[in-house]
Amino acid sequence: MHRTHTCGELRAEHIGQTVTLSGWVQTRRDFGGMTFIDLRDRYGITQLGFNEEQDKELNTRARSLGREFVVKVHGEVIERSNKNDKIPTGNIEIKVTAFKVLNASLTPPFTIENDTDGGEEIRLKYRYLDLRRNPIQEKLVLRSKLNKAVRDYLNDADFIDVETPYLIKSTPEGARDFVVPSRMNEGQYYALPQSPQTFKQLLMVSGLDKYYQIVKCFRDEDFRADRQPEFTQIDCEMSFVERDDVLDTFEGMIRSVFKSVKDLELGDIPKLTYDEAMRRFGSDKPDMRFGMELVDLDDVAKGNGFGVFDNAGSVVAINVTGGNKYTRKELDAFTDWVKRPQIGALGLIYCRVNEDGSYKSSVDKFFDQEKLAQWAEKSDSKANDLILVLSGETEKVRKQMNELRLHIGDLEGLRPKDKFAACWVVDFPLVEYDEESDKWHAMHHPFTSPIPADRDKMETDPGTVKANAYDMAINGMEVGGGSIRIHDKTLQKRMFDLLGFTPEEAQEQFGFLMNAFEYGAPPHGGIAFGLDRLAAILTGTDSIRDVIAFPKNNMGRDIMIDAPAPLNADQKKELGMP
Ligand code: AMO
Repeated sequence: MHRTHTCGELRAEHIGQTVTLSGWVQTRRDFGGMTFIDLRDRYGITQLGFNEEQDKELNTRARSLGREFVVKVHGEVIERSNKNDKIPTGNIEIKVTAFKVLNASLTPPFTIENDTDGGEEIRLKYRYLDLRRNPIQEKLVLRSKLNKAVRDYLNDADFIDVETPYLIKSTPEGARDFVVPSRMNEGQYYALPQSPQTFKQLLMVSGLDKYYQIVKCFRDEDFRADRQPEFTQIDCEMSFVERDDVLDTFEGMIRSVFKSVKDLELGDIPKLTYDEAMRRFGSDKPDMRFGMELVDLDDVAKGNGFGVFDNAGSVVAINVTGGNKYTRKELDAFTDWVKRPQIGALGLIYCRVNEDGSYKSSVDKFFDQEKLAQWAEKSDSKANDLILVLSGETEKVRKQMNELRLHIGDLEGLRPKDKFAACWVVDFPLVEYDEESDKWHAMHHPFTSPIPADRDKMETDPGTVKANAYDMAINGMEVGGGSIRIHDKTLQKRMFDLLGFTPEEAQEQFGFLMNAFEYGAPPHGGIAFGLDRLAAILTGTDSIRDVIAFPKNNMGRDIMIDAPAPLNADQKKELGMP
């Protein structure tokens, strides 16, 4: 007989029923004449009970069951004497009358329970065992729901799901390509797509009007918790649209995802320009769950004979509400924190607002009470608050302050995982200057259009040209980005010129797209969301590895299948490789 129920299904109302369950032995506990087993499957855990007095042989056999044995059990649902309110099946247990071992198991290299004792390396090596753990399976279940919610929304909005090739030529997303040698074309290589960018634009030229694809992308770049060398995008493109059409459509998608996956109404999604985001938060992906915005103290801090401020590009503060509680030692720890090479600040200045409204700062020598009162006024500080100040080159100091703001936000509990705040950041710079190569780089990619009002400056003052590009950030993580594209051959050529492509290089790399633009390209634009990142945010985990069934480790290795690996001599010969 097949199983009648899953291991997560039985409740008090099933008491008295005869059932059959199948699953894995998670733990076995032997007490005198009694044996208890936790039986696990994808749906949960059910306790099995064996009693020597009732069936000696069965109890003896139960005691030979090891961890992770696969068994099928038959028995009666009874009320549990020792209830467990932590699990949904905690009111019942199965009084087993018969069971069969479907498969034995070696002792697993780590305990397969909700809280495991296994380190990350060993869990990745035996990922198929790690994936047996319910908390990980729950993340994959949520990811699957996310996937469905996205497809439902986009299908309803008339988007067509189109697959694009993986064996292609280099795409310009700014990372390194993974390459694949071609046997039939010796000495030549395909590149794996960093995104389907050029193909989705070609689909617009083809008149598909609204395209989407949930698609793997491949980027050979340095690792971070929010990056994998292969990751999944929700990739989309639309024709005959302007920026706000795209933003409205995808704001709708994100809202619908939060509603169906979390049953949650996402609040307001403000639009910030890039300049505003940098000024107010020091980040182009601000965490909007809390305030503590950056305050510009230039006019009250400079010109008081304090060289560190006077010679700085900017003096920037944040106000920590109630922050006067931090001890001197803790403030020193903040200073050490911002001085670490990852942050790179030279020091941190503080000003306490005392209970009685007086001030105590680390620069009292240069700033009297009246001056400090000006700081407090600008920072909107009240009694018992703490003002933290950094100074330096404007762009750098803002970024440093963003890090400090997030750090303090963590300490203050202002970034809970079950709270979600999204925002759009728009009007990014079109290009950024790279000193090393002495070249302008596309901030997004070379197909992003400059906003019309700035086009005249593309040749004369490119650094000030804004792009019609946008990102969405949720809880301080960039979850999506896109732009209105260039659909005009002449403008595309000017962009390639600005990026330092010779006409030959541009033709060689992107000739197919430029040629397509000769045949009636519609105005178009789109966006791509990181599915892994959305899943990580929705499941409240810090690393996207937790929401990927078979992720790479931080050296880009799959340590379970042991890839990458050398090729054998025959393969190399066939590929014409040394
Ligand atoms: P972009 O490069 O901004 O845009 O990528 C879109 C989104 O993909 C996610 N993402 C990643 N997730 C995990 N690991 C990575 N290595 C990784 N890199 C990016 C991020 C990001 O916001 N073709 C354009 C989109 C467009 O213009 O329509 C593109 O790929 O969440």
